[in-house]
Amino acid sequence: MTPEQFCARIGIAHPIIQAPMGGFTPPELVAAVSNAGGLGSLGAPYFTPQQITDAAARIRELTRASFGINVFAGGYATENTIDPAPMLALLAEIHAELDLPPPSLPPLGKSPLKGKIDAVVAAKPAVFSFAFGIPERADIARVQASGSFVIGTATNVAEAKALNEAGVNAIAAQGGEAGAHRGTFIGRFEDSMMPVRELVSAIVQVTDLPVIAAGGLMTGADVADLIKRGAVAGQLGTAYLPCPESSAAPTHKDALMAARSDETRVTRAYSGRHARGIVTEIMRRLDPRPEIILPFPLQNDLTRPLRNAATKAGDARWLSLWAGQGVSRSRQMPAGKLTTVLIAELLAAR
Ligand SMILES: Cc1cc2nc3c(=O)[nH]c(=O)nc-3n(C[C@H](O)[C@H](O)[C@H](O)COP(=O)(O)O)c2cc1C
Repeated sequence: MTPEQFCARIGIAHPIIQAPMGGFTPPELVAAVSNAGGLGSLGAPYFTPQQITDAAARIRELTRASFGINVFAGGYATENTIDPAPMLALLAEIHAELDLPPPSLPPLGKSPLKGKIDAVVAAKPAVFSFAFGIPERADIARVQASGSFVIGTATNVAEAKALNEAGVNAIAAQGGEAGAHRGTFIGRFEDSMMPVRELVSAIVQVTDLPVIAAGGLMTGADVADLIKRGAVAGQLGTAYLPCPESSAAPTHKDALMAARSDETRVTRAYSGRHARGIVTEIMRRLDPRPEIILPFPLQNDLTRPLRNAATKAGDARWLSLWAGQGVSRSRQMPAGKLTTVLIAELLAAR
């Protein structure tokens, strides 16, 4: 499939995708990108089914163009074998610094995937994408039958092959440069950190499905480069975080605009899953003690109160400053304008 065929298939003008980013991609951001000719994507991994329904309706008030909805398809621990006491004690020290009551262990819930897929089927977005695993084949088929184009996320060749067998329509290849969570669900995270250029080249050799490049892409020229390597589109997350429409905290946006490229690191401190962000005090305190970090989503729920407090206080020490390795090339402008700039750069470079 060529980039032009891919764009025609999902109903967009140019092969620029604003990455789904759970907690950071309100309808205003999604619609601005879609209205400018790219694909806006709603990151809904932390949404209830009702929130997905409401957000899709709001996006439709703002645009008639195609957009995507994204969820996590797995990665939720169903039991915890790690003693929570050392982590609770360590976080209690930070809570005290922030005048918060001591942390308590949240309950482990069930994977909320089924209800979310029901909401996606009803919302009928042009694109449904997922990370952290693969939904059941029947669920993929049911989303496709409702009219959505289905994209799964791979961080290595084995995952790309598994997605191919599961019947997805396209694969998002997430390179090691990417901001926030690693999608890895087969093999070890350490073995799944291939740079996006190598990963795209490797995946196009094992599948005929269209491949979308993600990770460290900040300009239209970056996307053009990946298209030359066989990708049909580029998916950009970090590039869209500083936009006024993104719901990244002002402190986060400031950190992105001030960052140098060597300031990001992969950590499990915030959520229990490997994710890339700008180095913070919480990473400095927790990363040396990986054995006490609880599994996703327990660790994520446990660090939420201090992250919320830090957001309110504008205190970057305890915030998750998610960012990919392209962060030093961040540009701050409205999302529609950024999309227009990216498209112009892409056209100039092809
Ligand atoms: C803040 C943030 C949140 C993200 N949340 C999600 C998500 O909810 N679902 C998902 O599939 N990918 C998520 N990603 C990963 C993106 O889909 C994409 O792989 C990544 O942004 C590409 O790298 P870049 O940030 O260097 O552009 C997130 C990325 C960031 C930066």
